[in-house]
Amino acid sequence: MTQQREHWGSKIGFIMATAGSAIGLGSLWRFPYMLGQNGGGAFVLLYFGFTLFIGIPIFIAELIIGRASQKSVVKAYSELAPKSNHWRLLGWLNIFTSFLILSYYSVIAGWTINYALMSLNNFTEGKTPSAIKAIYEILYKSADISVFWHLIFMLMTVGIVYGGIRKGIEYWSRILTPALLVILLGLFFYATTLPGFSQAAHYILYPDFSKLSTEGVLNALGMSFFTLSIGIGIILTYGSYMKTQEDIPKTGFIIGSISVAVSIFAALMIFPVIFTFGFEPEQGAGLVFKTLPVLFAKLPGTTFISTIFFILFVFIALTSSISLLEVLVANFIELFNWTRKKAVLFSGIGAFLLGIPTALAGSGDLFKNWQDIYGKDFFATIDYTSCSWMMPLGGLLTIIFIGWFMDKRLVQEEFLQGTKMTKLLHIWLFLIKWFAPIAVILVILQQTKIITWN
Ligand code: PHE
Repeated sequence: MTQQREHWGSKIGFIMATAGSAIGLGSLWRFPYMLGQNGGGAFVLLYFGFTLFIGIPIFIAELIIGRASQKSVVKAYSELAPKSNHWRLLGWLNIFTSFLILSYYSVIAGWTINYALMSLNNFTEGKTPSAIKAIYEILYKSADISVFWHLIFMLMTVGIVYGGIRKGIEYWSRILTPALLVILLGLFFYATTLPGFSQAAHYILYPDFSKLSTEGVLNALGMSFFTLSIGIGIILTYGSYMKTQEDIPKTGFIIGSISVAVSIFAALMIFPVIFTFGFEPEQGAGLVFKTLPVLFAKLPGTTFISTIFFILFVFIALTSSISLLEVLVANFIELFNWTRKKAVLFSGIGAFLLGIPTALAGSGDLFKNWQDIYGKDFFATIDYTSCSWMMPLGGLLTIIFIGWFMDKRLVQEEFLQGTKMTKLLHIWLFLIKWFAPIAVILVILQQTKIITWN
């Protein structure tokens, strides 16, 4: 029996859902803390360059593979490369990476629910900035609370994905993404009035390459993949729900620009707090939770603004987590003929269990010696391995596939269908066949110390 594949209800619905996947904790939580740990402006510049010359071209490549095959990752590769069995493995790498990311994404998103509730209880009242900052440390060490919110968030994700593509994803994304962007913009304008703003702007926008390590270069690459949701088959799967008349290159540029813009606005809103109150930029994963409440506490209507902000934060995390779960579900349905319900439950429970060690990373209740052995706690290890290694590797293989193995005519046809940007075809082909693979390989070789330069 062949099933008619479900398609996006409308063009704007598709853009909003893809933007919903892209904009999320990556821009608001991960980018600012990575930027602080990797020395500021040089990291931002690299992130921007990687997004423009590598990320967006890969994003376009994934949409093309998805739409051309009308399948999810594993089947897409077997369909488009019928002579070789090995490309299926890339699909499996994507699935595995999605699992890892969803597992810890849900823990962080769970903390945002916790912050929404704390905001409602006006938790910053009468506290100094350092005392507000210290609350995050307590949360990080509280295993039970972290696991509890992780569970709640995963249940929300599962509930939405269970509802199906159009009803679930599209509906929510259309309302919530713009709402958050409006609030962000307002907060950014407020942050410009803080005394630390110009120092922050200099820190973020002025590239000082002496502060950038080789790991920083790899992290910037991974960061660009993470915010665009590429290298793990999500955009590919979303592309498979796309109709033929839609404009693939344009979608790539729109999403790429939105995610870079949101990341930079988020940083411009968070770093003024750091410089105004004398915090350290290298706070690590808690950065956004330590700084934003300090900002909110200074505003009139703290309880209201802070609560609304964290509720929206939860929602944009949801629009990303549902995209992660959707890839897993779409694949399991297609590969094993499972019902949607079975696929959703299996993936949701799996990712929940895998997230538990992350939720316990701060308390040290599990894997006590992890940090001493691996140099990073469990959470940071999963975050680093999946984002800085597995996503770039997945993306690299994707462009090698589309540039060198997929039927050339089909690739060009898909690129050109529905777009007016026909002149970009050759530039894009050059980027995905030569520039992007070579650049990614060089970054990896440099990080593995196979080659070194200064
Ligand atoms: N792009 C999302 C974000 O920035 C995270 C994500 C990564 C979502 C990979 C799906 C896949 O938050």
